[in-house]
Amino acid sequence: MSEHKTFYITTPIYYPSDKLHIGHSYTTVACDALARFKRMQGCDVMFLTGTDEHGQKIQDKAADAGVTPKEYVDKIVATVKDLWKLMDISYDRFIRTTDDYHMESCQKIFTKLYEQGDIYKGEYTGHYCKPCESFWTDSQLVDGKCPECGREVYDAHEEAYFFKTGKYADRLLKLYEENPQFIQPESRKNEMIAFIKQGLQDTCVSRTSVKWGIPVPFDPKHTMYVWVDALSNYISALGYGNEKYDEYSKFWPADLHMVGKEILRFHTILWPAMLMALDLPLPKRVFGHGWLLMNGGKMSKSVGNVVDPVILCDRYGVDAIRYFLLREIPFGNDGMFTNEALINRINSDLANDLGNLLSRTVAMCEKYFGGTVHKVAGTEAIDTELETMTSELLGKVTADMDSLTIPQALMEIFAVIQRANKYIDETAPWALAKDEANRARLESVLYHLCEALRVCGILLNAYLPSTAPKMMEQLGLDASAIDVEKAAYGAQESYTVHKGEALFPRIDVAKEIAHLKEEDEKRKAAAEAAKKAKEEAEKKAAAPAEESNVDFTHEAEISYDDFCKVELRVAEVRACENLKESKKLLHLTVFDGERERCILSGIAKWFKPEDLIGKKLGIVCNLAPRPMMKGKYVSEGMIFAADTADGGCSIPFYSDDTPVGARIH
Ligand code: ME8
Ligand code: MG
Repeated sequence: MSEHKTFYITTPIYYPSDKLHIGHSYTTVACDALARFKRMQGCDVMFLTGTDEHGQKIQDKAADAGVTPKEYVDKIVATVKDLWKLMDISYDRFIRTTDDYHMESCQKIFTKLYEQGDIYKGEYTGHYCKPCESFWTDSQLVDGKCPECGREVYDAHEEAYFFKTGKYADRLLKLYEENPQFIQPESRKNEMIAFIKQGLQDTCVSRTSVKWGIPVPFDPKHTMYVWVDALSNYISALGYGNEKYDEYSKFWPADLHMVGKEILRFHTILWPAMLMALDLPLPKRVFGHGWLLMNGGKMSKSVGNVVDPVILCDRYGVDAIRYFLLREIPFGNDGMFTNEALINRINSDLANDLGNLLSRTVAMCEKYFGGTVHKVAGTEAIDTELETMTSELLGKVTADMDSLTIPQALMEIFAVIQRANKYIDETAPWALAKDEANRARLESVLYHLCEALRVCGILLNAYLPSTAPKMMEQLGLDASAIDVEKAAYGAQESYTVHKGEALFPRIDVAKEIAHLKEEDEKRKAAAEAAKKAKEEAEKKAAAPAEESNVDFTHEAEISYDDFCKVELRVAEVRACENLKESKKLLHLTVFDGERERCILSGIAKWFKPEDLIGKKLGIVCNLAPRPMMKGKYVSEGMIFAADTADGGCSIPFYSDDTPVGARIH
C-alpha cells in the first residue's frame, strides 16, 4: 500500500437524546479498529464521528427537561466525547450538526436541489415515528404502528418540500448491480432492492411543525428533515459547502460508511440519491452491521434495557470491552450481550490464552537466561508451524479487515497465541532446562515464543490499543516496535524482557455474576425510587392548577376605611358542642377578652368539639347578631376558616402566647 493512500471511514452521527449505550460503542469501536489498522498500514486516515442534534425527538426531550434544545444537547455531547476518550476512540474529527459550518453546507445543498428541481413543494399527509425520525404511509404501518420499531406513530398533515427520490430508483438499482461491494453484508442488499421495487416514494424533506432544525433558507418557516441534515454531515465535515475545512477533494468519496442495519436504508437509498442529484461521487461501501441484543430485544435509548459502557469499562478495563465487542458478535449479524459471555471471553481468551502466554514466556526468559534471549541458528520441525503462522498472520488479518470480518481477524491472532501455548507444552522448556546440553535449544524455543508474542502484539494494537504497548514493554521493546513492516517471524534479533503485571486478571465467574446482579438491583431500585420521587413532585406541582376548588370570584373593592370598620380579634374557645338539631353546625362559646359569645359555625363535618376547645382562633366581632335555628340561638360572630383542596376545611390557630382579644389587622 502506497504512503499516500487515503482512507475515509465514518460512524453514524448519534442522537444526543440520552447518554449513549454499549450498542453505540459497538459501532464506534469497530470503526476505531479499522481506522487504527489502516493507519498502521500507512494510510492517511480520516475517521469521522459526531452527533445528530436536530429533530422532534430532541426538541421534546429538551422541553421535558425544561431547557433549550441546545443546552440539552451540549450536556449530552460532553458525555459522548468523554465516552470516546475513555474507550480510546481515535477519531480525527467530531461533527455536531449544530455547528455553523455544517448548517451552512446543508442550506447550500437544499437550495441547490430546489433550484435544479430535485426538491419541490407539496403537501404531506401520513404518519411520523418520532424515535426513528421516519415518515410512513398508511400501507407501510404494521398494526397501525411504526414498521421499524413498533412504537406509536402520529398523523402529520402539512405543507412540505419533497425530494425526488423516486426519480433515482433505476440508477440506484444499477449502482447496486454494478458495485457488489456497495451494500454489505450481501444479505441486506436484497432488502434494499425489494424496498425500491415496491415503488420508491419521494421523500418529505421539510417540516413546519418542527422548530428545532436547520431553516430552509428560501422558506424559513420550514426546517429541514433531520435525515437530510444528518446525512450531509459526511461531506460537510470535509468542507463541502463551507470554508471551515478543505479536505473534500482529498477524502471524498468515503471508503466506508459503517452503520447499524436499521439505518442502512437511509444510507443506501436516500443518501446516494441525494449525491446523484448533487452530481457527486458515491461512497464506496456501506456496511450495515447487526444489533447487540439484550433480553431478546435491541438495546435502545428509548426502551430502557441499556448497558452503560462507562460502568463496564471501569470494571473490566476498556480493552476487555473492546475485545468482547469485536470478537463475540459475528460482524454483520445480531448477537447477545450478556455479562456471562463477557466474563467468559475475558477469562478464556485474554487472561488464559494471551495473559498466560506472555507471563510464562517472560518468566522463563528471566529464569533460564537472566531475561535476555537471542535468535538461534537452526530450526526444528516443531518450530516451522509456529514460524509460518506468525509470518502469515499479517496477510490474514489484512484480508479480514478488508472484508470486514473483524471477529475472524481476532480469531487468526488468537490462533497464533493458542498455537504458541501448545508449543510450550510440546517443547517442555522446563525439561530442556534440566540438561545444559539443551541450552541452545531452550533459547531457540523462548525466542520463538517472544517472536509470536511480538507479532501478535503489533496486530493487536488496532483492537487493544492499551494492551499492545504493555506487551511490548514486557518484551523489552518500545512503541516503535509496533510496526506492521516488522510483523513477520525473525524481524527482531533479541529480547531483554521485563516482568510486568498480569495483562488481564482472571475473574471468578460465580462471584462476579452475583456481584453484578446485586449492583443491577441496586441501580434498578435507585432508578425506581428516583422515578417515584419525580412523579410525586410532578403531581404536587400540578395539583394546585388541576385540582384546586378555589373560588376566584371577587367581591367589590372596599376602601381602607371600610376595612377598618371590620373588628377582627383573637378569641379562645371555652366550650364547644354538637347540636342535636343540626349535623352541620357546631355551637362554640368563645371568650373575646371581655366577654363570652355564642357562635354557630358550619364546621361539624370536619371538626369535633375536642379539636377546638382551648384553641385560639380569629373571629369577626362586630357582625350584627344573627338569630339561628328558628331563634333558639343568636350567633354573635364568625370564625376564620378556609376551604381546602379536598373539599374540607382548615382553621388557623394562634399560638398560646397570643393574648386573647388581640386585634387582627
Ligand atoms: O440513528 N446494537 O442515531 P442513533 C448495535 N442519528 N448498534 C447499535 C445499537 C445496538 N443495540 N444501538 C445503536 C441515528 N447502535 C441517527 C444516525 S447517521 C447520518 C444518523 C448504533 O443514536 C448503530 O450504529 O439512533 C446504529 O445505527 C446507531 O447506533 C444508531 O444511533
Ligand atoms: Mg436509532
